[in-house]
Amino acid sequence: MSLRPDLDLIVQELADEMRRRPDRGEVATYIPELARVDPSAFGMVVIDGDGRVSAGGDSDMPFSIQSVSKVFTLTLALGKAGDRLWRRVGREPSGSPFNSIVQLEREHGVPRNPFINAGAIAVTDAIVSGHQPREALGEILRFMQFLADDDTITIDEAVAASEQRTGFRNAALANYMKSFGVIENPVDYTLGVYFHHCAIAMSCRQLAMAGRFLAHSGVQPSTGRSVVTAERARRINAIMLTCGHYDGSGDFAYRVGLPGKSGVGGGILAVAPGKASIAVWSPGLDASGNSHLGRIALEALVKRTGWSIF
Ligand code: DON
Repeated sequence: MSLRPDLDLIVQELADEMRRRPDRGEVATYIPELARVDPSAFGMVVIDGDGRVSAGGDSDMPFSIQSVSKVFTLTLALGKAGDRLWRRVGREPSGSPFNSIVQLEREHGVPRNPFINAGAIAVTDAIVSGHQPREALGEILRFMQFLADDDTITIDEAVAASEQRTGFRNAALANYMKSFGVIENPVDYTLGVYFHHCAIAMSCRQLAMAGRFLAHSGVQPSTGRSVVTAERARRINAIMLTCGHYDGSGDFAYRVGLPGKSGVGGGILAVAPGKASIAVWSPGLDASGNSHLGRIALEALVKRTGWSIF
């Protein structure tokens, strides 16, 4: 392996290979609007520490980032609440599906980690923190636009409305946590903000741009501006590694060996510390709700670059 892998070539080859594969997983249907997405799409973008962009496939097509947004809401909430955030959400893998309710009763309404739905709703509640939903959502969207250096990023209102109409489990999780005092704002406020930040639409290019600070010790490499401290970036990466793929997190660490966060829209943000920010998108999911070909492409990328952290 050369010191500097030929990322343009690798990403191109992976995109071509993934687009041809017949095994694509299943597109999420429990949010009706997501069921309309074309399962043959595939995109990948790698941005190295010098800001060089290697793109392949549908790298500029916006998709619903869904749970990938939870990395950024966690970052914002830690900025607001600091370590007090950990009073209402844990840092342990759940070993349960992303929308599971079972641990909440035994664990006094405190979700296992910030990436399962219950945990992400509790984190969103910390961002709402007495503000109007519109203000909280504006803050999240502006943060994404700032990180990606792109003010065209928007929320897909059709996806948000689709989930708002059908998100009965999330409503159950939020109400259940509210009964323990873990949710402080009106449940409707917090859920409304949660559904909308999950419905942010971004391309692989925009998502990889937004993830750069996690790959570079909290610093936005293009501007040299610090987004979070190096310690916080390291800790967010640790939670991505242990919890970012729900009950598939162990398998993702085993196969890929990078911190990563998936979403049911088929996106994955992965971080190669000190090296690159990577976004991949393929809408078909595996049984744990993680992008099937996204994971396979990342596994192949890491094999060819030697970027596993292990
Ligand atoms: O709350 C939900 O179910 C969705 N808005 C997000 C879930 C999700 O992306 C899980 N990821 N793989």
